[in-house]
Parts: sequence; structure tokens; C-alpha cells
Amino acid sequence: MIRHFIDLWDITPEEGWKLVLDAEAIKLSKDKEKHLLGKKVGLFFTKPSTRTRVSFEVAIVELGGHSVYLSEQSLQISRGEDIKDTARTLSRYLDCVVIRTDSHKKLEEYAKHSSVPVINALTDMSHPCQVLSDVFTLYETFKEDIKRIKIAYVGDGNNVCNTWLVAAGLFGLNLFVATPAGYEPSSYYYQAGEDLCKITGGSIYLTTNPVEAVKDAHVVYTDVWVSMNQERTEEKIQALMPYQVNEKLLSYARSDVKVMHCLPAKKGEEITEEVFERFADFIFTQAENRLHTQKALLKFLL
Ligand code: CP
Ligand code: NVA
Repeated sequence: MIRHFIDLWDITPEEGWKLVLDAEAIKLSKDKEKHLLGKKVGLFFTKPSTRTRVSFEVAIVELGGHSVYLSEQSLQISRGEDIKDTARTLSRYLDCVVIRTDSHKKLEEYAKHSSVPVINALTDMSHPCQVLSDVFTLYETFKEDIKRIKIAYVGDGNNVCNTWLVAAGLFGLNLFVATPAGYEPSSYYYQAGEDLCKITGGSIYLTTNPVEAVKDAHVVYTDVWVSMNQERTEEKIQALMPYQVNEKLLSYARSDVKVMHCLPAKKGEEITEEVFERFADFIFTQAENRLHTQKALLKFLL
């Protein structure tokens, strides 16, 4: 049976932890096998990407496979060819397709008609590769304590935030989310996270108070206030201003707090330059880990 990776709930908690441990083994060069020998992976992107695209391309080549980059403009889909016909065609050439698109529904439609695994490389609703990798980064830092630490997500209730809700459930983590009223994460992803928490012992707490979320936190996570393809309004920026990760907000967290950002960052908005630079080493380790985690994911799916 083919497996897709559209959302984090497509894997079980056991599989999630196995992927994290595999990512660690790969990073430490304990697993150097060419798991993708002879495999062809398509990278179908309708939006820009620095980390996701490059880390997938490098992961594929280092695992002995071959990647084909497919921008939307270069495909007949841009002239109206059906998604399902594109999926059925590409399934005849490729062993796996990694897709970044503005519409989660389109990704689901593609996956329904694909006979090879489809990996979500970001949609308007979720970014599972990012958050799976972020859990690995936290595991690397906190090991077994990962289930005891307080993780705070502060800012816009976007695709990354939605995925964190599911990650808290899947991995049994303690997540506090602070977003302004009107910019909350999706209730569907929240429910999925809550349902998983009942199995794994994780917890999710939603608030509009950033100080409450950050208080005594071990980890503070943020992301841009205006995601790709979203409209930038002054109203949204003003609503999010109290959620900026700056030294004042961080003063409520533990003194050894770690700050995470999936990148790209818009300094002066969701994070100050000062805070960003103080945690830059950790943030770029977070970016590096996309490579190791996606190798583990490709090995698992193929
Ligand atoms: N974090 C992330 O997905 O970055 P890119 O948009 O550069 O791929
Ligand atoms: N929320 C951001 C994440 C970028 C990796 C966006 O969708 O643009």
C-alpha cells in the first residue's frame, strides 16, 4: 500500500518517533545507506522555497536518487490540465512527488489520483515536513525531556501553527499557542491534535495572551505574520504586534529558553533582529535538520 505524507496524522506516533530517531542516525552518519538508489522524485512547487526545495534536492541526491524540479509554470497544469491527469501521468514516471501548493484541497485531490507517495511540502493549511523536523531538533536538544518541556507558539495561527497542534498530539508534547482573536489556528487541526493528545498524553492550551504562553517556556516558536499568497493588512500587523518575539516577551520565559523560527523571517515583525541573532545558531540548525529529517522520511515512504 502506498503511503502519502499530507498531514502529520498520516503517520502513527510510533512511526513519528522512528522517523525522529532515524533522522538522528542519519545526521550522525550512523546510516549512510543509499536508500533511494534508482528512485526518481518530482518536486512540484507552485510557490517559492529556499529550505524545502534545496534540502529535498540534496537529500535525494545524497541518498542515491534523482530529482526533477517541476515549477507550475513549466507544466500543462498552468494551462488548465486536470490535477488528476497530471497526477496519473507523473505516477508513470516518478517514484514519489513532493508538492508545495497554495491549496490543501488541490494537494488532496492530487494525492487521491497518484499511485506513488505524495509529500506535502507546504500548503495553506499545513507544513508537516517542517514540524516533523522541528520535533527532531527539539529531541536532539532535550532528549527524553522533550515530553516535559513547555513549548510556546506565538503569532499567526497559520499552516505551521496548525501543524504544531497535530505534532503536540502525535508526539505527546506540551504546547501553548498564543494568537490574536481572529487569527486563531484551524479548529479542525486543533481537534485532530486534541484527539491524539488523548492517546499520547500531550496537551494543547490556546490563549490570546502571549505572556501566558511564553511564561516559563523552554521553547518559543514563531513564524511570519503574512504567509505566502496572503494579503498583508495593517489591521493584521497591528493585531499581531503584542505577539512579537522580542527581549521583553522573552523575559517571561526560562533564562535558558530556545527560540525557533521555521524561516524565512521578517525581522522587525514577528521577531526582532536582536532576538533572531541571539538564537541564529539554533535557528539555522533547525533549518539544517530539514535535510536529515527528509532523508528519513524519503527512506520511510519509498
Ligand atoms: N521553512 C521553509 O519551508 O522554508 P522555505 O519556504 O524556504 O522552503
Ligand atoms: N507560514 C509561512 C511558512 C513558510 C515556510 C508561509 O506559508 O509562507
